[in-house]
Amino acid sequence: MDHRRPWWRTAVVYEVYLRSFADGNGDGLGDVPGLRSRLPYLADLGVDALWVTPWYPSPMADGGYDVADHRDVDPRFGTLADVDALVADAHALGVRVVVDLVANHTSAEHPWFRAALAAGPGAPERSRYFFRDGRAGGSAPPNDWISAFGGPAWTRVTGPGGPEQWYLHLFAPEQPDLDWTSPEVADDFDATVRFWLDRGVDGIRVDAAPAMAKVPGLPDAGHPPGASFASSEWVGNPHWDVDEVHEVFRRWRRIGDAYDGDRLFVSEAVVNGPERLARYVRPDELHTTFNFDYLKAPWDAGALRTVVDGTLAALAPVGAPATWVLSSHDETRHVTRFGRERSGAAVMGFDDAPPADLARGLRRARAAALLTLALPGGAYLYQGEELGLPEVEDLPAEALQDPTWERSGHTARGRDGCRVPLPWSGDAPPFGFAPDGVTPWLPQPASWASLTAEAQRADPASTLSLYRAALRLRRELPVEEPLTWLDLGADVLAFDRGPALRCVVNLSARPVPLAGLGRVLLGSGTPGEALAPDTAVWLAPA
Ligand code: NOJ
Repeated sequence: MDHRRPWWRTAVVYEVYLRSFADGNGDGLGDVPGLRSRLPYLADLGVDALWVTPWYPSPMADGGYDVADHRDVDPRFGTLADVDALVADAHALGVRVVVDLVANHTSAEHPWFRAALAAGPGAPERSRYFFRDGRAGGSAPPNDWISAFGGPAWTRVTGPGGPEQWYLHLFAPEQPDLDWTSPEVADDFDATVRFWLDRGVDGIRVDAAPAMAKVPGLPDAGHPPGASFASSEWVGNPHWDVDEVHEVFRRWRRIGDAYDGDRLFVSEAVVNGPERLARYVRPDELHTTFNFDYLKAPWDAGALRTVVDGTLAALAPVGAPATWVLSSHDETRHVTRFGRERSGAAVMGFDDAPPADLARGLRRARAAALLTLALPGGAYLYQGEELGLPEVEDLPAEALQDPTWERSGHTARGRDGCRVPLPWSGDAPPFGFAPDGVTPWLPQPASWASLTAEAQRADPASTLSLYRAALRLRRELPVEEPLTWLDLGADVLAFDRGPALRCVVNLSARPVPLAGLGRVLLGSGTPGEALAPDTAVWLAPA
């Protein structure tokens, strides 16, 4: 890797879903001290940075993405002193820390929203949010906008005198949207950005970035009745990917640029295609943005190549690196996705998802890891993917906590199946996630005994060992920026990253001969003369 370039251009960032990583205080919920105690594992794995999901005070209506105070830590997760110690320890181990900024909405328990409710219609306190009168004499929502978790994006307030105005929430009703045309909102988030950068964090992940501007007048979107939230298909939508959102990023970039150490802004932005996405990473905006087209692509050589080429072509003119991502705390784990016949479908945990062949899914997931880590740019790993964890699809209904479950009228189970606490060690729950005898906030399958980090650390053929080896090689190999495709036939992805690394991924049903292609550095299967279906290999070209 080229060490003269900013770290984030090629970084491998590990997503810590804090609630499910490690429980330090024995309440069944992951926390900052738990994460801190496991930092040596992450340094040993070989990642460059962590992105930690929200640790802020929150009623947890959406797992902490409903923030009641953006500049503090929820006591269930620890204290500001714990965060300072985490950042110091991580830095001592050579690992950077990225925090999560949720700025499209607050918690309904945020002092601003409480004040807005108490102040009543027309009061200035309401101008930080979107309060509007309803249509049809007040009884119908002000427009047709929909929530990402199902149902309308508006909830009606009941005041002392009965039903009154409605307020906007593109996510759960407990997450009212902020009005970013309010100078007070913008100024306060400047202070929040500075607060965390001053504490020494290396970057900020911007939640729901395309939501932070709305078309004035809040016109109807034209959603058909019963429409679901499909932002990757929307063009000209009045509540998503609206041009004014870029002013917010320019403002933050100016703040970040005044700090030393190449601080990073990375956005979560599910928008329509790579050209729209590239607008988020123009030179005076954010640095990188997650690539959801890659995450949603099926296990199909043509589809994956189209995404890779489309991404690189769209990002080149703005000079931003790609960031490849296969899984997150919002998506069905990719072992399970790739194990399905229709492997690109079934994100967000819909009940009618076809069954998964997990052996096939794991083979493909291991191959996909080598593909992902060989592509130019950076990569995001989601906790547990290095253990090859599948989605937990049989959580009992009474255990489900994702708001999607209730909002969908119990038709979509939501995202809890990818959020089950990690198995660290031992042969029974809580598998070292929490002290023995403590019940984790979501139940872990007994079958995870063979998937613990401890068990896999000792096995050179494990998925954990594959990730460790790949991350070590990635650091050592002098790979070059451009990617050069090789033609090894239909359903095979093969490319060089300069003379040091050749990656071959076999997505076909037949073995691919490796003769003459180079010396094997690392394989997701056991490459011999030929590369088996659904496996990948890294080679030193001959
Ligand atoms: C994206 C986050 O990743 C997700 O978990 C959350 O529900 C929404 N944004 C709303 O904040």
